[in-house]
Amino acid sequence: MPVLGLIRDVYKEREPLRGVTVAACLHITTETANLALLLKAGGARVHLCASNPLSTQDDVVAALWSEYGIPAYAYHGESDEDYYRAIDRVLQEKPGVVMDDGADLISRLHKKAGTSLGSVLGGTEETSTGVLRLRNMAEHGVLRFPVIAVNDAYTKHLFDNRYGTGQSAMDGVIRATNLLIAGKVVLVAGYGWVGRGIAARARGLGARVIVSEVHPVRALEAAMDGFEVATVANAARVADIIITATGNTSVVRKEHFALLKKGVILANAGHFDVEIDVAALRKVATRARVLRGVIEEFVLPRRKKVYLLTGGRLVNLSAAEGHPPDVMDMSFANQALSVAHLAKNARRLDPRVYPVPPEIDLHIATLKLRAMGLKTDELTSEQEAYLKEWRLGT
Ligand code: ADE
Repeated sequence: MPVLGLIRDVYKEREPLRGVTVAACLHITTETANLALLLKAGGARVHLCASNPLSTQDDVVAALWSEYGIPAYAYHGESDEDYYRAIDRVLQEKPGVVMDDGADLISRLHKKAGTSLGSVLGGTEETSTGVLRLRNMAEHGVLRFPVIAVNDAYTKHLFDNRYGTGQSAMDGVIRATNLLIAGKVVLVAGYGWVGRGIAARARGLGARVIVSEVHPVRALEAAMDGFEVATVANAARVADIIITATGNTSVVRKEHFALLKKGVILANAGHFDVEIDVAALRKVATRARVLRGVIEEFVLPRRKKVYLLTGGRLVNLSAAEGHPPDVMDMSFANQALSVAHLAKNARRLDPRVYPVPPEIDLHIATLKLRAMGLKTDELTSEQEAYLKEWRLGT
């Protein structure tokens, strides 16, 4: 993670986070550990809890405690009760800055008023689902501090959501099933940046890809990107693998179960486990059993078997290791620089959702290009002048 390394060198020297307590609710992976070390190098006290019960890497938690003295309250497969207990535990530290991935920590903080709301200067949010929830809170006048939407930075969603999830979601499906993707029919539900990435990677692996999408412009884009576009109901009849990536609830639901092809693999790549209606699937099934750890087999009426991966939780982090470090490098550079921005400026900001300052986004792109050894041209003075000259034409 070379960009994090470069920022870490600067933070070590300048300590822009000295005296700041950061409570971070993130997927606890090796990449997150690297971010935590960088924040610590910048002078912060860092306390971590998990943003999903199935994404925690237990060896990372152990190393954070024993090698680096960074408290991380999480274990793989934790119960809902322990998940929220861990969030409450990091909030006891009276954080100045909170970092979230999905907005569970910030939502908890606002629901349990009187906890440590008073100490919080501001927050950051990693993912589109969390940004949506936070914008909802701001619109309802509930949000009590400024939050930076890290997800919306170009150097985050164009790369992490598209190439990161595109690769890691397919990685999760492949690790869980060991299926050959070539020749399969893959239905991708949702054509946001995540859906675009998964569809492209599935096609690259040789699948025939169908996209379902409710937004007319996105559906049109999928069609012109060369994908078949169909409703979930129509595509369900032919799909061998269905991957949801909509950020919405009950995308594959009771009315679709009767239509599913025999042997279909159901997986979710959205933040929450609501996109496949698992409760309804359990009700309809005559039998269910766990196979190969992360695969559950359901027998539906007429003895049709279908397979659900990791209980409908996000497949890239629960069946694989999430995005590779190369891409988390940019996402977490946005986090690190946004935390320092908040530590300096949050007192002057209203309680709203803010974009990552554009100069941070550009700086990260520049550092990443440099780290990749790529050189780019610069505008000549003639070109700069041309761009400002409205009189010139044909
Ligand atoms: N989100 C997606 N991939 C991740 C990773 N490897 N670490 C932390 N958060 C992630």
